[in-house]
Amino acid sequence: MNVILLGPPGAGKGTQAQFITQRYGIPQISTGDMLRSAVKAGSDLGLKVKDIMASGGLVSDEIIIALVKERIQQADCANGFLFDGFPRTIPQAQALVDAGVLIEYVVEISVDDEQIVSRLSGRRVHEDSGRVYHIEHNPPNVEGLDDETQEPLIQRPDDQEDTIRNRLAIYHNQTKPLVEFYTSLSTRDSNGPTFATVNGLGRLEEVQGRIVKILG
Ligand code: AP5
Repeated sequence: MNVILLGPPGAGKGTQAQFITQRYGIPQISTGDMLRSAVKAGSDLGLKVKDIMASGGLVSDEIIIALVKERIQQADCANGFLFDGFPRTIPQAQALVDAGVLIEYVVEISVDDEQIVSRLSGRRVHEDSGRVYHIEHNPPNVEGLDDETQEPLIQRPDDQEDTIRNRLAIYHNQTKPLVEFYTSLSTRDSNGPTFATVNGLGRLEEVQGRIVKILG
């Protein structure tokens, strides 16, 4: 099963991805996590993208498409995968179509901008695994520590209010048009995906339930 989770920054894509990958036994492919690992490792890729990510801008389509094409060749993707944070532009989505990568479900998680600013300012992450928490809505068992490794949680550098608002503006300009792209693909192409929008507000389990209704 190949699935895309669409939605603005902070909609809960990473949070729901953790649950979906366990339930359906498919790996999460988060381009954001892949890029953050490269930044942390100080690789050539990391050096190229570090400042762009810190400002909330988008990394070039060329870099992202190459990264994803390589990742989906790996053995753990044989039975499918979950894209989280990809595609984010029309050229990225078109590159999947051109490469013949079939997507069965595109699920958009919808959350309004003000709620997002509040969610992202309370977000804490475990840097190595990408596990996501929220100081109020999804706290770790011990304040400030990851549940599995007990290592310290961090606040992402792009989770400052100004940067969040920049990311939201970019989302509305460049990523939201994918809703129209996939709605149209699902109606005109018999191999096209099922497209659905779920309300991302409510408890984590409620949002999970809405997604399960679509994925089956
Ligand atoms: P990326 O890491 O993909 O960030 P993003 O899309 O901005 O998404 P987030 O990770 O911020 O949010 P999320 O939807 O996963 O929400 P989460 O589950 O954490 O990208 C980072 C950067 O990398 C980009 O800005 C760009 O520079 C670059 N990049 C990545 N991919 C790219 C691409 N394809 N092309 C170009 N550039 C790319 O939840 C947020 C918070 O809310 C958490 O604290 C969580 O606990 C909480 N929460 C979740 N659900 C609920 C709920 N139901 N109720 C209350 N709180 C909730």
